Amino acid sequence: MANKIGIFFGSDTGNTRRVAKSIAKKLGDAADAPVDVKKASADDLLKYDALILGTPTLGDGELPGLTAGCSEESWEEFLPQLEGKSLSGKVVALFGLGDQEAYGHEFVDALILLYNVVVEAGAKVVGFWPTDGYSFEKTNSIVDDKFVGLVIDHENQSDLTDERLDAWLEQIKPALLG
Ligand SMILES: Cc1cc2nc3c(=O)[nH]c(=O)nc-3n(C[C@H](O)[C@H](O)[C@H](O)COP(=O)(O)O)c2cc1C
Repeated sequence: MANKIGIFFGSDTGNTRRVAKSIAKKLGDAADAPVDVKKASADDLLKYDALILGTPTLGDGELPGLTAGCSEESWEEFLPQLEGKSLSGKVVALFGLGDQEAYGHEFVDALILLYNVVVEAGAKVVGFWPTDGYSFEKTNSIVDDKFVGLVIDHENQSDLTDERLDAWLEQIKPALLG
């Protein structure tokens, strides 16, 4: 059997954790239980060949962590541990939470920060997501006219979360499961 999918997330107020759990539930036996990066080491992540990584955007378009005002460490502190490590041969899908109404000028900007790190480390990123259905002023997280991962807006579009997750998982499953 193919290796399981590893799911890692950062979260301040729990929304991203809940989405990660929902993803794990939908994937069933194909995925291991989601892990909060505040409790993870680089080796925990590197043991997977297929990964789903999730982050909210906090602070001023930032990854969660102490600089963004979180009370605990998160992606900001975790990512430097990946410096010098290779993600070559690994397939990674990203999802990001943001608020297009309150933060439409820096909507889901943390997604591109995660994307840049994993691409730099050699990973293949799958699961780009269309911008249709979202309304915002500006984001850094678009490459080739698409978001670099699934975008979830819990504050304004929570009614769409489930169907977005289902469609995205169908899209990425073949690449993640090999
Ligand atoms: C202080 C603060 C700053 C935020 N900054 C942004 C932002 O720059 N861009 C964005 O899209 N959303 C921003 N948000 C919205 C969060 O990303 C959103 O509430 C998300 O669901 C939080 O996820 P979490 O519960 O996993 O921490 C911000 C929220 C807070 C409380």
